[in-house]
Amino acid sequence: MVARNREHCVSEAMQDQAEGLRRLLADDFVRIVTLTSGKRGVGKTSALINLAVALAKRGKQVMILDEHQGEHSVVGMLGLTPYYNLTHVLRREHSLEQVMLSGPEGIGVVPAGKSVQALANIAAPDLEWLVSSFAQLAHPVDVVLVDAVAGVASNVLPLSLAAQELVVVVDPKPSSMTDAYALIKVLNQGFARRNFHIVVNRVASAEEAGVVFNNMAEVARRFLKVSLDFMGFVPQDEKMHRATQLGRTVVDAFPASVAAQSFRNLAEKVEQWPRPGGEQGQLEAFMQRLAQSSRATGGEPGRPGRA
Ligand SMILES: Nc1ncnc2c1ncn2[C@@H]1O[C@H](COP(=O)(O)OP(=O)(O)OP(=O)(O)O)[C@@H](O)[C@H]1O
Ligand SMILES: [Mg+2]
Repeated sequence: MVARNREHCVSEAMQDQAEGLRRLLADDFVRIVTLTSGKRGVGKTSALINLAVALAKRGKQVMILDEHQGEHSVVGMLGLTPYYNLTHVLRREHSLEQVMLSGPEGIGVVPAGKSVQALANIAAPDLEWLVSSFAQLAHPVDVVLVDAVAGVASNVLPLSLAAQELVVVVDPKPSSMTDAYALIKVLNQGFARRNFHIVVNRVASAEEAGVVFNNMAEVARRFLKVSLDFMGFVPQDEKMHRATQLGRTVVDAFPASVAAQSFRNLAEKVEQWPRPGGEQGQLEAFMQRLAQSSRATGGEPGRPGRA
């Protein structure tokens, strides 16, 4: 009896060790990046799909969460056909694997549908179900890129608020810069968000990107006491439009183009960002933050948030 007990204890200790080792070796950190903009049409979705492909080509497992629907969504721009969306997962009608579409380079694309707003009123067991759906994905994800709807309306903010890293895409038009500033102001003053990466799209030169960024950074520093991070720029490149027409990315279809090179640079930047501590690097924690943000901003479209 004593011998059997000892055997049992030894095998338990070995199991504990093995489990500890597995945890030590498993790199379950997930980088969660939301791309947003102050106004529509600045090239946010094109930037996102190109960044996704550039990251995938560097060996990352990438998942895209797409808040848009229709022609201008990630799904639409990549020529994919959505059958279901995250709302079906919330309603337990389909699994996350069934909802996720397969994009270029093995990128998983999850159409969010109206699920983000629905999260405001979600019951605890349903949230748990959603969180566990992400936790149990068959293929572990390294990077999640979120295409958030542009603007400062309260119903479009949760995905920006829950993000671990927030990228604001601007183009050199004055209205794009002022709208981006307005968005940063709401996220900072209404919700204490402090870190913002800026990508300047559709510029004629690196100098122009520098001027746009410096203008924004100066105003943010002076009036908000926020320091913006220059993530990089993407030149105006007609290959971008050609790739959109083909339902592809420049990184994939025109790898020698200047735009493709700039997305490879942006992907390298993402990999160099320091890792945030705590639970920030877990997909489950992101879904929980998303539900909280959705509640904090009012949830239903058109309903004012607290900002
Ligand atoms: N650097 C660039 N050079 C040339 N064309 C570009 C560039 N970036 C984006 N475009 C083109 O601009 C158009 C709009 O881009 P996109 O749909 O990505 O914008 P968006 O910000 O996501 O718009 P929305 O807010 O409506 O979702 C596309 O046809 C795209 O090919
Ligand atoms: Mg878009």
